[in-house]
Amino acid sequence: MTDSSKSAPLTFEGRVIAHRGASGHAPENTIAAMKRAAELGARWVEVDVKLSQDGALVLLHDDTLERTTNARGPVQNATAATLAGLDAGRWFGATFAGERIPTFVQFAEICATLKLQANIEIKPCAGRERETASALAAALRRHWTAPPPLISSFAESASEAFHAAMPEIARGFLTGTIPPDNRLAGLAGEYVAIHAGVNHLKATDVRRARAKGFQVLVWTVNDPQQAQALFDMGVDAVFSDFPERILALGA
Ligand code: G3P
Ligand code: MG
Repeated sequence: MTDSSKSAPLTFEGRVIAHRGASGHAPENTIAAMKRAAELGARWVEVDVKLSQDGALVLLHDDTLERTTNARGPVQNATAATLAGLDAGRWFGATFAGERIPTFVQFAEICATLKLQANIEIKPCAGRERETASALAAALRRHWTAPPPLISSFAESASEAFHAAMPEIARGFLTGTIPPDNRLAGLAGEYVAIHAGVNHLKATDVRRARAKGFQVLVWTVNDPQQAQALFDMGVDAVFSDFPERILALGA
């Protein structure tokens, strides 16, 4: 069985991953945001996935519906059919009215069509960590034709369950702060990248992670000057709501 931690480093053309798609320009985690990311020149997108009540994998960040749709209440009380009927665009702007919550299958199709690479963040509702990870593995086997995705999650149990199901797919360790060296050493055989929060990130942390063989990705960076400072520290790529600002820096 292939060990993903020993595979060639991931390449991040333009050093940017469009965060939730180009979410500064279009409603996050929608097909419109993926199209906009591609139009702006991004080659990578990050999305959040979770389960409907009846076990369908969809693109949504929050555990509740009110911020990004025209409905209220917990996502895990809503069926796939209910979610499919919601408006996930109007909150962002009138021109996006009628934009839907994408199913994972629709996301797989748009990545294949637009030749986008994906960082899929497993964002499970509490108590559904392993189930969400298993559903993602099954959906990838069945529907994914784009280049292999990079998987991450704040929920370690989800990440571990995903790895047990699909050890050949690379994972990033998603964290607010880069862990101490002894913890990094334990992660080194498991994860290819550290996905670190930008707040409190220090050059020494980036150096420590790179010294252990990790690629370093940083979220969420919308200021190009801040991005350049991170690249100067050795960061491989940043997640940005405005990918064109990072692309304008040049490779
Ligand atoms: O995966 C990076 C970033 O998306 C993590 O935070 O809350 O935007 O999903 P969040
Ligand atoms: Mg995310």
